Amino acid sequence: MTSTEAAKKIEVLKKKISDADYKYYTLASPDIDDYKYDLMMKELEKLEKEFPELRTDDSPTNRVSGEPTKSFGTIQHQIPMLSLSNTYNFDELVEFDNRIKNILEDRKYEYVCELKFDGIAISLIYKNRKLVTGATRGDGVKGDDVTQNIKTIRSIPLSVNDRSVTDFEVRGEVFFRKDDFIKINEEQEFKGEKIFANARNTAAGTLKLKNSAIVASRPLNLFSYFIHTGDKNLKSHLESIKLLEKLKFPVNTNYRKAADIEEVRKFCDEVEKMRDELPYEIDGVVVKVNSFEQQDILGSVSKSPRWAVAYKFKAKETETKLNRIYTQVGRTGTITPVADLQPVFLAGSTISRATLHNFDEIKRKDIREGDYVMIEKGGDVIPKVLSVNLKRRSNNSRPYKMPDKCPVCNTKLINPEGEVYYYCPNYDCPAQVQGRIEHFVHRNAMEIEGLGESIIEIFLEKGFIKNYADIYRLKERRDELISIERFGDKSIENLLKAIEDSKSKPFDKVLFALGIRHVGERTAKLLSKNFGSIDKLSNATEEEIVGVHEIGPKIAESVSGFFKDRKNIELINDLKKAGLQFESEKSKDPGRINENFNNKTFVLTGTLENYKRDDAQKIIEDLGGRVSSSVSKKTDYVLAGAEAGSKLEKANSLGVKVLTEKEFVEMFKE
Ligand code: IVH
Repeated sequence: MTSTEAAKKIEVLKKKISDADYKYYTLASPDIDDYKYDLMMKELEKLEKEFPELRTDDSPTNRVSGEPTKSFGTIQHQIPMLSLSNTYNFDELVEFDNRIKNILEDRKYEYVCELKFDGIAISLIYKNRKLVTGATRGDGVKGDDVTQNIKTIRSIPLSVNDRSVTDFEVRGEVFFRKDDFIKINEEQEFKGEKIFANARNTAAGTLKLKNSAIVASRPLNLFSYFIHTGDKNLKSHLESIKLLEKLKFPVNTNYRKAADIEEVRKFCDEVEKMRDELPYEIDGVVVKVNSFEQQDILGSVSKSPRWAVAYKFKAKETETKLNRIYTQVGRTGTITPVADLQPVFLAGSTISRATLHNFDEIKRKDIREGDYVMIEKGGDVIPKVLSVNLKRRSNNSRPYKMPDKCPVCNTKLINPEGEVYYYCPNYDCPAQVQGRIEHFVHRNAMEIEGLGESIIEIFLEKGFIKNYADIYRLKERRDELISIERFGDKSIENLLKAIEDSKSKPFDKVLFALGIRHVGERTAKLLSKNFGSIDKLSNATEEEIVGVHEIGPKIAESVSGFFKDRKNIELINDLKKAGLQFESEKSKDPGRINENFNNKTFVLTGTLENYKRDDAQKIIEDLGGRVSSSVSKKTDYVLAGAEAGSKLEKANSLGVKVLTEKEFVEMFKE
């Protein structure tokens, strides 16, 4: 290919990719599948590698540059980034409107109402229609240069085609959707890392990460609400919103023109009612005078414009008395402090408890029993204690003394080095036993319906169950069970049936049910898939476990430690005898295993003629092999289709065997 041909091809690919990004991320209606998208990206990467001189800053391959940001420089804003003055009730909105009426005298004016997104304000500078810098608001005069991280946000155009603009600035709010935020936290939990408190701070933290590959892996979004082009023909806020849409910037469509302050009030009321249903967090409504000419007349005072105001919703925070701090013992022995609160009504429900996370947090905030505390109810998180109102602290209050013994079994607590958590080390602590059994029977694990919290408590008390295996011996005590007052024949029958049925739960569910620390549902699936049986897993070394893609050292240590404990091995043997599944379905069907594939690692690249990628993967896995996403020395085969890119190169350089589609088919026909 000549350089001219490559340049043309690159242009076409860039256009197609940015089109696909726009449809997927801004319009939320994709028209090509991920696979095709990946292929285009790969092709572009390949061409840019071959013709480095054709690589430009606005290439979508730059979205994940991988280069760590060393430090964030600062960027001076071309126009200061002002903030908004707040109003908290309708009377204050009327005052705002009166001020405007006075200044604008007898001119007619109208408002535009928008949502106030609870995210991070950013400024994007485009020169020659290409994105050159992205910065945070900072102190309003200068902000942090976060260009590299901003580029990972796929709804932000790296360049625009529209010829009506050349150099311009766009401003908007960067945020996480509520569901994406929950997923990020699930991911954190899965990796054994810290849980984030709220979406806004997480967005702020993410924008400041040094590793833009992590930023790219988190689905940040943008709503744009400001554009400055220098064009005098742009006459109003509404026109600039329309222009943003035309330039393919993401704009939130929940805005409304309001002829007077009464219409503004209606909008505010409506929005406040639907607030919880929105897929992203907002904390109010922004009211702006529409005409730019009038905005100029109104000007600004100190750091806020006179032409706009924020109408903030009732805070989801309130003050209440903290009666007492008590502790809970989790199934793995973790001690969590909980605040027992004087019940208060807050944003739709009564709150009488809040988590205090851990003892470091109590110490840091100096939270004491009897204090008046500020509590907050976030979107989807458990209420938490924000701070103490020291003015209301009583004279005889004393710092909270951390318990040194387990509140349930009185065993001395331990605090592993480097961890903020305290644990009860007693495996037989009744609270842990109860927690473990509850986890074991949970619907995501063995799904034994009819064995709820209070029944487990009774069974533990009566000594019917001490561990998981005892659950499967309950049928031997049918008469005793029936004699328990609140049980009828029918419910015992149902319970015993649910217990029997649970024996057919697949291996990964059983593995999850065992409650090994750090082994969540996903990890259990990965382990089951990669090792196939409990015997193989329990004989695996820590290194072998870490070798599984996505499994880190913390999980590996915990898994391997679990199997070193004789008690656990005995328990597993008991459960085996009871008839639970300790092998994955696949490894139980030796009929399908093919020696060419068994325990071999494959990497797929390029386009296959006769198979979709998912189908090829399924064939490989069904025959006993594994599919990995990257080529390494451990890769056995790279199956290369048409237009294979960097993976093929890597395979060649490492001397990994490369298969054509034909050779691959031969392999399983044999
Ligand atoms: S307009 C002076 N519009 O609120 C004009 N801001 O306190 C200010 N914000 O820093 C920007 N949603 O982070 C505007 N629809 C919206 C907004 C919005 C959220 C944030 C933004 C700004 C802060 C002002």
